[in-house]
Amino acid sequence: MPQHDPSNWWMPFTDHRQFQHKPRIFTAAKGSFLTTDDHRQVLDITAGLWCMNLGHGRQEVADAVSQQLMQLDFAPGFQFANPQAMRYAKRICQHTPDEINKVFYTNDGSSAVDTALKMAYAWHQAKGQGTRQRFVSRMGGYHGINIGGTSMQGLANNRKGFPVLDCVDFLPHLLDIEHNAFTKGLPDHGADKADALNDIIAFRGAENIAAVIIEPIIGAGGMVPPPKGYLQKIRQICDEHGIVLIFDEVVTGFGRTGAAFAANEFGVTPDIMTSAKGITGGFVPLGAVFVKDHIYQTIVDNAPDNGPEFFHGTTYAGHPVSCAAANACLDIYEREKLFEQSGSALIQHWQDTLHSLREALPQLVDIRNYGLLGGITFAQQPRFPGNAGGAVHNTCFDRGLLCRGIGNHMVMSPPLTITTQEIDVFAATFIDAVRKTLN
Ligand SMILES: Cc1ncc(COP(=O)(O)O)c(C=O)c1O
Repeated sequence: MPQHDPSNWWMPFTDHRQFQHKPRIFTAAKGSFLTTDDHRQVLDITAGLWCMNLGHGRQEVADAVSQQLMQLDFAPGFQFANPQAMRYAKRICQHTPDEINKVFYTNDGSSAVDTALKMAYAWHQAKGQGTRQRFVSRMGGYHGINIGGTSMQGLANNRKGFPVLDCVDFLPHLLDIEHNAFTKGLPDHGADKADALNDIIAFRGAENIAAVIIEPIIGAGGMVPPPKGYLQKIRQICDEHGIVLIFDEVVTGFGRTGAAFAANEFGVTPDIMTSAKGITGGFVPLGAVFVKDHIYQTIVDNAPDNGPEFFHGTTYAGHPVSCAAANACLDIYEREKLFEQSGSALIQHWQDTLHSLREALPQLVDIRNYGLLGGITFAQQPRFPGNAGGAVHNTCFDRGLLCRGIGNHMVMSPPLTITTQEIDVFAATFIDAVRKTLN
């Protein structure tokens, strides 16, 4: 039997027929690098799955986790609290927008999304507006894999064939290569795409719409920043019609945009924000929903006596070990000023390096960036129809670079602690891999 045998593991989002021919196995990680089972160093330009914001192998997080395991390994979260969860909730609210001071813990991003959707229902019901049962999402959106999030999916493969909720309308995708190709930061064109929300409201009736859920920057749908003014417009329309605005910040939270959250960075405060991934630097699982005070208060004040006001939660919500990891990560985020990187030399270097690829690689039809996020689109490649990103991804991996190919896109989200030299290594390897694959 080989030392590592994946044959019993049904892996997530994996092409097993291809994988069984050429398993890719990681056995160790440190800083910006993963190590494979054949001892190769791979530069992790995706921060794992957009989560290892602090890089790999942080001793103080490991210490906090092991200490917490021996101090209080578990405490039920229904009707009982624990110090790590309380402390983290208090601390993180120093970084959320002013009106957002309530934290509901979940297991991951998917359960954060479904929690947020149920909170929106609950809030409207508490106000006597129970007819508001529809949602608006956006084409290209990714919102996890639970049935609520699957229903909000704007990515066809992730919803096709599943019995999704029939109560969702979709705003148009934000990718507009014709007008915005090779824009640095937020594109100028496309704020008017928010007008589609008015059309949906006119068609369905505001009294039937509970919430709009969008990623402030589209992530898995190709890493697409919002056009200037777009988020402000969505906020304004939601306000005019009493609709809850949910930002899915599972990717954009925790320093990814340069600030703590995209909401802070763009100066647009949603009513509810979902998060996960960077909350614990990816070291252990945790998710959280951050909620405006008045939403919490309305739900609590209008519930019948002698029972939970919100019949919702999971076994591991507020898990003391996960929250200990989150507290240790927040120490690092604060000490290393990783929520204050907007306009930093590092982000500037990331932008310059990404956009320098345009000259080297005629196969690219677009490069996008914001904070420490990057997106690239390849021209249609006859040899790899609709999957140039996947093809390049495989060559990158063979050459020691972990990117994420999605259709004809490549998306990047390096650890926030990446160095400028590592960014240069990324660019050189990427150029080499694209030439080798597509020439
Ligand atoms: C925007 C967004 N929402 C939700 C999720 C789901 O998070 P998880 O995989 O932790 O369940 C993801 C995961 O990539 C995401 O990108």
